[in-house]
Amino acid sequence: ESAALLKAIIENAIDGIITIDERGRVESINPSACKLFQYEPEEVIGNNIAMLMPPPDREQHDEYIHRYQRTGHAHIIGIGREVTGLRKDGSRFPFRLGVSEVQFSGRKIYTGFIHDLSREKEAEERLKDYA
Ligand code: HEM
Repeated sequence: ESAALLKAIIENAIDGIITIDERGRVESINPSACKLFQYEPEEVIGNNIAMLMPPPDREQHDEYIHRYQRTGHAHIIGIGREVTGLRKDGSRFPFRLGVSEVQFSGRKIYTGFIHDLSREKEAEERLKDYA
């Protein structure tokens, strides 16, 4: 049935998928995202998404969401951006972030799609060393 199929697709997606509520609290995180950020689901669910990013975004992310809700002007939704994630061990990694807004049973949630760019960036750095 289609809910089970959707769940299987999300569970097996190569990219990380995280959903947050309108205040930035994590509602779900798939296995790929857990692996990228080195957390177990229960360590992340219920906490602010800002725990997965370094400063200065960490301190400002609530305001980013708030600004969007006030103005309707998207800076990432429907556009995407390359941003930096913060793993549990404190290391950082680059990824492509896509965000979409979903109206779900009378309320708003945001879905983030996380495409790891570590390998691409490392290759770029190595090429620079030869230049
Ligand atoms: C906005 C960073 C993860 C949802 C933003 C902005 C930045 C940012 C820089 C826009 C700032 C601006 O120019 O106004 C990050 C970083 C993340 C992250 C570094 C690393 C973990 C996520 C995830 C979601 C999300 C996973 C959704 C599940 C949003 C929303 C907005 C936003 C809803 C406001 C709408 C918009 O500007 O288009 N974030 N974000 N973010 N982010 Fe994140």
